[in-house]
Amino acid sequence: MHWRTRLAQPQSLAPGGFKSLAVPTYRGSTVLFDKQADVIDHWRQDEAGYSYGLYGTPTALELAARIGQLEGALYTFLVPGGQAAIALVYLAMCDAGSHALVPHNVYGPNKEMSAGLFKRLGIAVEGYDPMIGAGIAAQIRPNTALIWTESPGSVTMEIQDVPAICAAARARGVAVALDNTYSAGVLFDAFSHGVDISIQALTKYAGGHSDLLLGSVSVRDKKFLDRVGDTYKQLGMGVSPDDCSLALRGLQTLGVRLARLEESTLTVARWIAAQPGIAAVFHPALPSCPGHDLWKRDFQGSASVFSILFDGRFTARQVEAFVDGLELFKIGMSWGGVTSLAIVYPNLDRPGKDYAGRLVRLNIGLEEPDDLIADLARALARLQG
Ligand SMILES: Cc1ncc(COP(=O)(O)O)c(C=O)c1O
Repeated sequence: MHWRTRLAQPQSLAPGGFKSLAVPTYRGSTVLFDKQADVIDHWRQDEAGYSYGLYGTPTALELAARIGQLEGALYTFLVPGGQAAIALVYLAMCDAGSHALVPHNVYGPNKEMSAGLFKRLGIAVEGYDPMIGAGIAAQIRPNTALIWTESPGSVTMEIQDVPAICAAARARGVAVALDNTYSAGVLFDAFSHGVDISIQALTKYAGGHSDLLLGSVSVRDKKFLDRVGDTYKQLGMGVSPDDCSLALRGLQTLGVRLARLEESTLTVARWIAAQPGIAAVFHPALPSCPGHDLWKRDFQGSASVFSILFDGRFTARQVEAFVDGLELFKIGMSWGGVTSLAIVYPNLDRPGKDYAGRLVRLNIGLEEPDDLIADLARALARLQG
């Protein structure tokens, strides 16, 4: 055979029997079948066998299985990011004419999608008070298809009474989805608290190094599995095996990173809570956080993000200057990596609360907490002086 033909018809020439601790990165769009009669096209590759790279190569399926195991899920789908996970859940659970409920403090782009794309598609998304608990029952309508929860909520960090919301939803046959990113799928056991579908932005703690984007959608039992799976297949939400390989490596150190981040974050949060000019610190493990008692009841620990509220004597401009004046804390979105971050939310929309421009979210990284405190102290002193 010509060498060009040989190169286009590769055979495995390397010796077999290689064993290592790393999961190999399998790339592949085409999956080969032995004969035409074996050809299938199904997303459920763990049962049906491999059919197409879009539904995951062995690298992606290994990551999905490990996330599923951590969360106690029947099945986990991997998608290109946390926002894609949110979109998949809506599109799986809602039809034109459906009604969905989302807490006021839900991740911003979730709200944007509700007010934009889903409005155009005829899905009505209504906000609710994140602290509503069992009172959610009054907002459930005959056409309610989905209730979102996110606990703690984005930026303002309210802890929700997820079991009470799930009980009210179950009584009316409504599915509950949780954005479980904060807990990395381990600090809060979504399924034992009644949630049907748990999503994560693996971008944060599983990735852990601010260098990849991935999301997961974990389904508790068979009830909604096919709805999610069929929608996932139709949307073509494939993921890169290279990103999955990074996330698999990230998972190996998740335990030590989470423990260290919890400790450092608490040290910084407790310090800043005692500083003049700080009206409140929203950290789930501090009593000043709305829903702190629910956190004590339901969570196994806390993670690396929290927010500080400057008191009314500071203008939005001054708070911005505080963030600009930080040196170790970088300014940027996302969280869960090794580098500390700070960001102001100038247009935060929280009904009944005037936080605009005075709230700063911090993500604590793996730097020494004393250095981070010194950085914050310098920026605060500049502000007061
Ligand atoms: C709570 C939460 N959910 C979802 C997302 C979206 O994740 P991704 O950036 O991977 O799309 C984020 C990102 O910041 C988030 O904070």
